[in-house]
Amino acid sequence: MDSTEKKSLNKNLQKANKEKNDEFYTQLPDIERELKHYKDHFKGKVVFCNCDDPEESNFFRYFALNFEFLGLKKLITTHFEKEKNSYKLEIEEDLNGDGKINDLDKFKTPLNQSGDFRSDECIEILEEADIVVTNPPFSLFREYVAQLIEYDKKFVIIGHQNSITYKEIFKLIKDNKIWLGYGFSGGAAHFINKYYVDYATAGDHKEGMIRVSGVTWFTNLEIKKRHEDLKLYQTYNEIDYPKYDNYDAINVDKTKDIPIDYDGVMGVPITFMNKYSPEQFEILGLDDHRLEYPNWRGRGPDLNGKPIYRRVIVKNKKLSRKIDL
Ligand SMILES: C[S@@+](CC[C@H](N)C(=O)[O-])C[C@H]1O[C@@H](n2cnc3c(N)ncnc32)[C@H](O)[C@@H]1O
Repeated sequence: MDSTEKKSLNKNLQKANKEKNDEFYTQLPDIERELKHYKDHFKGKVVFCNCDDPEESNFFRYFALNFEFLGLKKLITTHFEKEKNSYKLEIEEDLNGDGKINDLDKFKTPLNQSGDFRSDECIEILEEADIVVTNPPFSLFREYVAQLIEYDKKFVIIGHQNSITYKEIFKLIKDNKIWLGYGFSGGAAHFINKYYVDYATAGDHKEGMIRVSGVTWFTNLEIKKRHEDLKLYQTYNEIDYPKYDNYDAINVDKTKDIPIDYDGVMGVPITFMNKYSPEQFEILGLDDHRLEYPNWRGRGPDLNGKPIYRRVIVKNKKLSRKIDL
């Protein structure tokens, strides 16, 4: 990430968090690019988009357009209104009798509450749903995921890669209960927005959009990608892969440089999670999660007296050395 990107990301995310505003809308092609990998999961299922403005949301549009193609049973989308009663929009059958089920068959019903995903009304819909798909507010990500897990729901949702380092989210990743989807091209999303200044450099700027780097998809639906080994090319040597000052693990700066032949513990960047296959690697912990990784001493990995940015601690399962943790 260069300094302009960091500035853009930080300013916009800080502002979104502070104002609890989060009004970024996902583009239809981005939804299509991700969801094409999940087609088989949707047949006969009830899909719920619970953080959407259905009249603007491309999630609603995507599922309405593809209702028959995916073989959906039902689509439910709730709208959120701060401190006001809201509504839900649903598609279930060929209401207008034109022989197709699509956007023209939507029906609107008022809600008695605000459409908050935590409200009793929305939880009742959640219980009926099989798969939740949306871009929830980044500021409520922890709580949002916790609710999906509590109600044992399948999901495909957008979040920021920094949330990988949230203790609760990391634990779910480490336990192979959630993982990263295919993601956005170049690791950055252009969201439709009306509120924020886009600090993206000229080449990356798109009118009416905001560029947020580090945005990705989180899911607990099976996808092929998660079982594909990362191709490794580099071989281990002590100069390129120094050990941390405060732990017996080597530092790897770039995921693509993970050595093919190192059978010990490695600290790899968080972006590694995009390439993680549980058959190839075991996740041992996150640098400063001492509970997860009891022998860890210190706040994070230090290299030559300097702290290193967050690292996921892994080992290659296909190499056999037993590691005593
Ligand atoms: C990042 S926007 C994404 C909108 C839409 N899902 C999309 O991607 O185009 C987050 C949406 O969540 C809604 N929202 C904010 N707080 C919410 C809450 N507590 N419950 C449900 N929706 C909420 C906002 O109104 C906003 O429409």
